[in-house]
Amino acid sequence: MSDRGPPKQLFIETYGCQMNVYDSERMRDVLTPLGYVLADRPDDADLVILNTCHIREKATEKVYSEIGRLRAHKQRRAGEGKTMTIAIAGCVAQAEGEEIIRRAPAVDLVVGPQAYHKLPELIARAARKTGERLAADFTAQEKFDALPARAPDGVTAFLSIQEGCDKFCTFCVVPYTRGAEFSRPVADVLDEALVLVDRGVREITLLGQNVNAYHGEGGAGFADLLQRLARIRGLTRLRYTTSHPAEMTDELIALHGSEPKLMPCLHLPVQSGSDRVLKAMNRKHDGAYYRDIAKRLRAARPNLALSTDFIVGFPDETEEDFEATLQLARDIVFAAAYSFKYSPRPGTPAAAMRGQVSEAVKSERLTRLQVLLGAQQGAFNRAQIGLTLPVLVTGQGRKTGQKRGRSPYSQAVHFDAGGAQLGETVDVRIMAASQNSLAGALEVQEEERA
Ligand code: SAH
Ligand code: SF4
Ligand code: F3S
Repeated sequence: MSDRGPPKQLFIETYGCQMNVYDSERMRDVLTPLGYVLADRPDDADLVILNTCHIREKATEKVYSEIGRLRAHKQRRAGEGKTMTIAIAGCVAQAEGEEIIRRAPAVDLVVGPQAYHKLPELIARAARKTGERLAADFTAQEKFDALPARAPDGVTAFLSIQEGCDKFCTFCVVPYTRGAEFSRPVADVLDEALVLVDRGVREITLLGQNVNAYHGEGGAGFADLLQRLARIRGLTRLRYTTSHPAEMTDELIALHGSEPKLMPCLHLPVQSGSDRVLKAMNRKHDGAYYRDIAKRLRAARPNLALSTDFIVGFPDETEEDFEATLQLARDIVFAAAYSFKYSPRPGTPAAAMRGQVSEAVKSERLTRLQVLLGAQQGAFNRAQIGLTLPVLVTGQGRKTGQKRGRSPYSQAVHFDAGGAQLGETVDVRIMAASQNSLAGALEVQEEERA
């Protein structure tokens, strides 16, 4: 400790998807040995990292307004004889790194998603005010090799196993911001999982932009990897996100029926219910294919809950196309869903397509879809009332004596705990449901009653 000097305050703001959440945690792990401790506000931080998202225009705009706010803090600190290093990480850094450096002189360094292991070097350069301020090369393996061991802070953890995307949906920036699909070797994934479990993690969510496209060395597919992970003693739950419908293999579908550690829920983005729109999106599947996958998954695991993503107002989407989207949602019945207005992204094919839909129509369609999806989500949560669910204890609730946990479907559960311990899975009788969480009480075990 003593050779580090006084602790330095680090503030990290994370936008976007779970891969960014994972990356933010890894950046903290890289910086801890340099004497950085996490702060909960940026105002007096020595180092501020914005881990950015480029997926929709709004997400990108936020970055520039946040830089403006940080600049004011930086100036105030300069007046007090202190410094504030501002770093931009994530997908906006990758996509617009040069432009950020040009447009925002308050920014000291820009680091793309695959160069986080270079942060210490970039910070040192920024302090000396010499050398390149931008590191945005695509070297996924180098990043993972150079990152230190994980230091998880709970009983649930994310684990990135796959980066990038080769699918090139016509609306999406990810293939450009995260690069080509890259899978980590099986042994590396197993090692990282073992470290996590050793440090108390009981539930691991495997991450990738196309996680089920995972390919390990020697032809190991995603289902093989899941089976290897499921054998880890002490690991009680496995999840994965986000998967692509075209990569749902027979083995993977079957595994949902045979592997009890695999949780009975799946996020499977569909985007649209119209075959014409799906084709223009280059989604590589149609509505019938998606319905078939859903049917086979539910045959393998009858209580499987499906969640999804939708885009409304894709170029040239007609009222009839949109009706087909509503119909798909009615047919499948989703436990949860995210829906977005199509946002044209620079450099993607769809941004140049004819028939861009007006904001007013997009908004109107989004509202109609969200009313339907909201009702489905509410109904799904209410259907848990009266059931006894296995709940993983993840923490202490706000109400005294109550514990916080996670249902098999990832719903937050607040419950009266008895002696339930962190990391344990306990049976909880669900007594109430809101749109986003459940409440219940610990089920008394047979032997305790006797
Ligand atoms: N890899 C995932 C999705 C990553 S992005 C997949 O293949 O499904 C998360 C979601 O953002 C997408 O599923 C999509 O619904 C939405 N999205 C992506 N690009 C978008 C855009 N240009 N406009 C609006 N929503 C978009
Ligand atoms: Fe984007 Fe499509 Fe790749 Fe998902 S599969 S990350 S939506 S290009
Ligand atoms: Fe956003 Fe990048 Fe994730 S664009 S959704 S942070 S991969």
